[in-house]
Amino acid sequence: MAKPPASLSGQDVGSFAYLTIKDRAPQILTKAIDTLHRHKSEFFEKYGEAGVEAEKKAISLLSKLRNELQTDKPIIPLVEKCVDTDMWNQYLEHHQSLLKESDETPRWFYSPWLLVECYMYRRIHEAVIQSPPIDDFDVFKESKTQSFFESQESVIALCTYLQELVRTIEDLDENQLKNEFFKLLQISLWGNKCDLSLSAGEASSQKTNVLNSLQDLKPFILVNDMEHLWSLLSNCKKSEKTSIRVAIVLDNSGFELVTDFILADFLLSSKLANEIHFYGKSIPWFVSDTTVRDFNWLIDQVKCSNHKWMSKCGVDWENDVKMGRWVYHDHIFWTLPHEYCVMSQVAPDLYAELQKAHLILFKGDLNYRKLTGDRKWGFSIPFHEALNGFHPAPLCSIRTLKAELQVGLQPGQAEQLMASDPTWLTTGKYGIFQYDGPL
Ligand code: F6P
Ligand code: MG
Repeated sequence: MAKPPASLSGQDVGSFAYLTIKDRAPQILTKAIDTLHRHKSEFFEKYGEAGVEAEKKAISLLSKLRNELQTDKPIIPLVEKCVDTDMWNQYLEHHQSLLKESDETPRWFYSPWLLVECYMYRRIHEAVIQSPPIDDFDVFKESKTQSFFESQESVIALCTYLQELVRTIEDLDENQLKNEFFKLLQISLWGNKCDLSLSAGEASSQKTNVLNSLQDLKPFILVNDMEHLWSLLSNCKKSEKTSIRVAIVLDNSGFELVTDFILADFLLSSKLANEIHFYGKSIPWFVSDTTVRDFNWLIDQVKCSNHKWMSKCGVDWENDVKMGRWVYHDHIFWTLPHEYCVMSQVAPDLYAELQKAHLILFKGDLNYRKLTGDRKWGFSIPFHEALNGFHPAPLCSIRTLKAELQVGLQPGQAEQLMASDPTWLTTGKYGIFQYDGPL
């Protein structure tokens, strides 16, 4: 296999990677600092003076981090001992060794974008855990909560739709069931537009009912492998397998997570699957990504809603978790900077776990960047090739485009898009269902 191309990086002045490091990353740090400031009295009430001291310490560590980033300082090792610290530091050393000949050290604008962006979120976490007693504070929680509440109307519309669908699901013929499956897949795709890291932590929610827009959004699906997903799962169902397991590698909490829950509920109700395994982050990540707290919080919120059908969804989902039909997992690998092609060596237990799935859905842009190694691939090289040996089970990326990276397009497709919309790669306006597995 040919050597994969170079990584996307902030070295390319004017690129999306460059602009993210230059503009968006410092804004995210500033927002985290503000959030800590605003919680000062809450910390005082909870922990007294120690809480205020901790808030000051976390803020000073984050300000130092922002300064390192803005002045393109060398990337320094992590200091606070955690389960993943050695793996992080080994990875940083490895990068250092690759640069030996040029006498460079890894730096913010010089190193791979994926590495420095993950490193920033890991350093934010370090600043918080170095500041007890506020060491389990999630600096992004407030934004995640706000974006969920702002999407209330859409959430109600989706929950109502789902409850009606589930009630009549036994009466649907094959074709109708397939259409519903496609609808809910698209809802889960467009749910990925709502991400807080792209909007630098500013509110990014779903205010309109996405169900009404699906038809209009169809032309924006650049790769559409939904038929393969249907064939795969409906064949599993026909073969009467005792267990059909679908894994969902989660992305954002809030509205996107609701759309993933709706899809998961449908998969069980339609018997296209009977176990859903969710994979989330073990620390706050890329502003809006789902942690176990967000996962449980959301189910709770939905359950406690005053709206009859929304609340029914929450009760059902809580029950799915209790009965083990829905299983939540986290693993440190998801918040390491590694590309997924090394998962079988770096996290063999996780790889073995994913191999048990009949289908793995990878939600969101960051997962796509890690699947393809965040490299400067040509637009028409096959997805299978960009996965660079990562094939634990049949898989599909469900992602709106938010990085200058896309593979598997038809010859000429990228050029046409570029001509009609030069920002097509980075605004989340376009989406893909890109499948890799037996056809
Ligand atoms: O900062 C922008 C960005 O890093 C994207 O390029 C990135 O992949 C995205 O944030 C997060 O998107 P998602 O939530 O879809 O993974
Ligand atoms: Mg995300």
